[in-house]
Order: sequence, then C-alpha cells, then structure tokens
Amino acid sequence: MSYPYQIKSLEQYHTDYKKSVDDPEAFWAAVADNFYWKKKWDKVLEWNFTEPKIEWYKGGKLNITENCIDRHLPTMAEKPAIIWEPNNPEERIRTVTYARLHKRVCQFAQVLKNNGVKKGDRVCIYMGMVPELAYAVLGCARIGAIHSVIFGGFSAQSIADRLEDAQAEFIVTCDGAYRGDKIIPLKAVIDDALIGNKLVKKVIVYTRTRMPVSMIKGRDIWWEDEMEFAEGQVEKDGVVSFPAEEMDAEDPLFILYTSGSTGKPKGVVHSVAGYMIWTAYTFVNMFQYNKGDVHFCTADIGWITGHSYIVYGPLAAGATSLMFEGIPTWPNAGRFWDIIGKHKVNILYTAPTAIRSLMSFGDAPLAGKDFSSLKVLGTVGEPINEEAWHWYNENIGNKNCPIVDTWWQTETAGTLISNLAGITPAKPGWATLPLPGVQPIIVDEKGDEITEKDEHGMLKGNLCIKAPWPGVLRTTYGDHERCRVNYFATYPNLYFTGDGAIKDENGNYKITGRVDDVLNISGHRIGTAEVENAINMHSGVVESAVVGYPHDIKGQGIYAYVIYNGHHGDENQRRQDISLTVAKIIGAIAKPDKIQFVSGLPKTRSGKIMRRILRKIAEGETENLGDSSTLLDPEVVNEIKDGKI
Ligand code: PRX
Repeated sequence: MSYPYQIKSLEQYHTDYKKSVDDPEAFWAAVADNFYWKKKWDKVLEWNFTEPKIEWYKGGKLNITENCIDRHLPTMAEKPAIIWEPNNPEERIRTVTYARLHKRVCQFAQVLKNNGVKKGDRVCIYMGMVPELAYAVLGCARIGAIHSVIFGGFSAQSIADRLEDAQAEFIVTCDGAYRGDKIIPLKAVIDDALIGNKLVKKVIVYTRTRMPVSMIKGRDIWWEDEMEFAEGQVEKDGVVSFPAEEMDAEDPLFILYTSGSTGKPKGVVHSVAGYMIWTAYTFVNMFQYNKGDVHFCTADIGWITGHSYIVYGPLAAGATSLMFEGIPTWPNAGRFWDIIGKHKVNILYTAPTAIRSLMSFGDAPLAGKDFSSLKVLGTVGEPINEEAWHWYNENIGNKNCPIVDTWWQTETAGTLISNLAGITPAKPGWATLPLPGVQPIIVDEKGDEITEKDEHGMLKGNLCIKAPWPGVLRTTYGDHERCRVNYFATYPNLYFTGDGAIKDENGNYKITGRVDDVLNISGHRIGTAEVENAINMHSGVVESAVVGYPHDIKGQGIYAYVIYNGHHGDENQRRQDISLTVAKIIGAIAKPDKIQFVSGLPKTRSGKIMRRILRKIAEGETENLGDSSTLLDPEVVNEIKDGKI
C-alpha cells in the first residue's frame, strides 16, 4: 500500500515539484491533511529569512506521538513498529508492536510526569541503541518536554557543556551500553558530567548491562522501578492511555547539538509540525516506502539521521523500523548482511564510511548471505565515491536496487536533495534532484547566483536554499542571533548550507563537501576550532591548527599541527597524551588521526593562520602551495612540508 503523498512517477515528481514552488501553501496543506491534528492550522506558512522567523502550520495543534503511534492503532496494533537486533546475535530479538510501543511510551510519559517533568522542560538522553531510547524520546514528545539526545561517544565534558547550554534538569541514561566486544559505562560518564552541576534534579537509569553503577539518593532512580509503578497508572482494565499534550505546531520538539565553524557546538531546534511533515514526507518518497516494508537505518539515534529515519519519519508513516544496537564489524564484518537476511530487510540506509569499511574486508563476509529481500539502498552523511557506490550496487543490491544518495544536514531535519528510489534517475556520486519544496541555488562568494558554466559545463559554487521547507531549523537554543549569523547572514535572504556543490545541465546536484571549517569524519561533523580548543587544553601545547585530509575509510581524517613546549615523553607518547586530552574534552570521535609537531604555523602579518597551505600539505601536495608572500615567516612552510607525516 502506498501513501496519498507518495510520488509514483518521474512525471509526477516534476508536477509535484512545480506545485510545491508555485504554491507552497496549497502543496504543504495537502500533505499535512494526511496527519492527525487536534486543531487545524490557521496559516500554512509565514516567513522571513532576515530575523529569521519561519512558521509552518501556525495555529495548528497536535502531538507528534499521536501521529507516530495512536493513529496507527486501529489498523496496525499488532504490526511491528520497531524490531530490535541486539549487539550479541545470540541474544533475543525484540519486536515492539505499535500497541506495545503505545503502552511503553504512555508509561514513560507518566514516569516523566511523576518526576516533575513539564512541557518545555529539557530532558537530556544519553543511552545506547535500545528500544528504551525510542520510548524515552517519544515519552518526552508525549508530554511536550524537549529532548536533547547526546550520542554515546561524547565525553563527560561535552555532556556537561550541553546540559549547561540547554539548562537541562532531567537525564535519561543506561548503566552501560554494548558496542561490539566493549561495554561503554554510560552512567559513569554521566556522573562525571554532573560534577558541579546544580540544575539536574533526576537521572533515570535503564539497566542494560547490569554493570556496577553509583546511585545517588534523591537524584538517581531506576527506569524499571519507575516504569512498573507507572504501569498501574496508565493501564486500567487492559486499556492503556496517557493524554498527549496539545502542542502548538511551532513548539520546539527537540534540541540536537551539532558542530559549526566556531568552538562551541550549537543546539539546533526543530519544531513539532514541520519536523513531522518533513521527515514523514521525505521518508516515504525517497525510499518509496510501502506499508509492511522493513526499513533498516544503521545510524545511531544520537545523530539526526537516527532521529529522523529510525524514529520519527518511519513511525509517522506507520512503518517497521529496524534498530541495531551493535556495530557492523562485530562479531565479524558480515553482521549487516546477516541482519538483512534474518529480518528480511527491504531498505538499507547507511553511510559511505560503513560501506568503504566493509568493502575493505573483501568478498569473504558476503559469501552465503541472503540479500534477496532488499529493494532499495541509501547513503547519507558524506559524499560517496564511485568505487564504493559500484561495490554497494553490485554486491549488496545485486544491480537490482536503486541507490538513493540523500543530502541533508542536522539543520534541515530531513533530506533536501536526493533521487527518489526507482522514480528519478540515480547518478553515482550525485545527490541529484531537490525534493519538492526545496529550492537550491548556487552562489559565488558575494551571494550572486552563478550562471556561468565552468570548463566541464557545470555550475559550481556555494549551495544555498532560497525558501523554507517545513523541516528547516527554527533557531539555535538560547541564542537566536547565532542561528541568524550562522545560516542566514552570509548571504541575504538565503539559507547557507556551508556546503559547496556543482550542478549539471540536467539540474542534478553533486555535493563537493564543506566550504567552512567543518570536517566530516566518518559522516560526523566536527569543527576544526572545536578540536583545536581541545588540543590546546593539553598542558604542553602552545598552539595548534587542525585541517582535514582525504582518508580512505573515514572520508576525511583529522590532521593536527601542534606547537609543543612540554618536556614529558617522546613524540609518540606526547601524541597519545594529546589524543587522550581530545577524547576527554570532546570524545574519541574527535581524536586526531595525525599529529605533526612544528616550531611555528604559517601566519599572515595580521596573525591569521593560512589554513589553505596547511590543508594542501596534509593532502600530500608539495608544489603549488599558493602564494606565501604575505606570510610573516615563509620559511616555516618548508619546515612543515619536510616534517609531514
Ligand atoms: O557536508 C554535508 C554532509 O554532511 C553535512 C551535514 O552533517 P550532519 O548535520 O552531521 O548530518 C549528517 C546526516 C544528514 C552536510 O553539510 N553530507 C550529508 N549528506 C551528504 C553529505 N555530503 C555529500 N553527500 C551526501 N549525501
């Protein structure tokens, strides 16, 4: 069964696209009519990009959990909403039906209420990939609390910063999380994050590993006890209910922190209605999801991909979403492929990094695996190189599954540019065409539209979006000016993506990567300034400069140039100390891949580091480093070049 808003042909794509641009209000009202509103909106769209102020479905009242759960109950109560594959393949699979999901979310909403959580309060969630993470997220949405999920790989310091920025008073966590053969002590990390914190009132701890944890009286409470108590409150005579808070369309749904070009991660805020419509609409259309399909998105819910395409988008569409606790290479590099066969997965959505990593194991892990259920493949998070694309197409898709290359960002809620599986043509390495409602434009440094083709017949420049789509971020938490400056001030009246792009004669877009100081490591965003700040926290470091360089598996690696003034250890020990410092300040994902000690950095007379030169050296370029005549000390460039690692 398909959806009323599903695009079913290339021709329809073009007509829908045109409608969405000519009359966005009519177009998005028609899509929104397929959802459950406690009260319809008064106005579909009001906006300006100068403040910015963007309001979709103003005056509308709804609760996203009624759309993701309750409205499916009459027809799909016993259908699986979430299938959970544990880290250890020997452990029991859990199938969470819509009825079960409803009950658990109602119970958890009651737990939150019992503990004093109210609409608008911020709840920080730091958990492994267990179904309870989805219950926690949806339980917050049920009562109108704003969740802020933090990826399990972030350090105590990162959590502390986010807690402070969000002024969060509640935390939901696990004792520990299984990842391959490791156990991550999540509660212990939270304990460290809470040293000195005066705001957090309650920490709810779900038991996953039953590793020893400290439990502070009055603050730390067990998930299981709370849920058991709440069960009696929400279930009467076999009927489960917990009233879903009436939310304004523009009320915030969640905060998700992401890196930018300045030091501190920013809290991207998405609002209830626009986010729901955008994730459901894009989910159905790009994957061509049909009721009953099993959708496997391999992301972690700690990132936007997991929010939008494991939890909200699929559930809003009444889909079956497969959630995997573990990692692709444990117990061996055939794990994803086993999962596909075991659960008869129809749609696989993963990152190019994972594909490249699995590719590097050769053909052996593929032998004997059953890929016959697959219908659609997808990639997200970074550009996909053609070699990986073809490997994915031939080995996993058996040249039989369209591959959607979906380009989007934390700030966009869901996909903006992608082919639609089997409907619009794919082009390896290209995200291709904008989804309805998305109006991309390629501009030069001044913000003028690029109209002149380059020597390959392409338009090339910085990628912006001309008008709002329902999922555009509304603000950055607690600092609207930051939102304006970061996204809406670079070019007047445009949303600036921070990405470079090229456009071919057929209107296809290829994303060429970030044009700001943001790195994309294994599909995860990390700001160079953030890593530099962390490196500079090491007691022996005087100064550092961080750039990205091409990395076979991760897409980009982190290359750090460091001026060091300490006396402890040899160079390798110093490198390890610096890496550990970064892991403590940010998390292991931000550890530099290479650290080169230098005596100076190439700076202009005004003191600005010439990153262009450092980037070229890190990329292995020895000639053509560009004009160095404005450098204070041009000699330092030769030293750095000679010392390259
Ligand atoms: O540079 C683009 C890259 O990832 C950035 C967004 O990162 P994040 O907010 O963490 O969201 C990742 C998941 C959506 C973008 O600015 N990016 C994302 N998807 C693609 C991509 N680059 C090329 N092709 C893609 N399909």
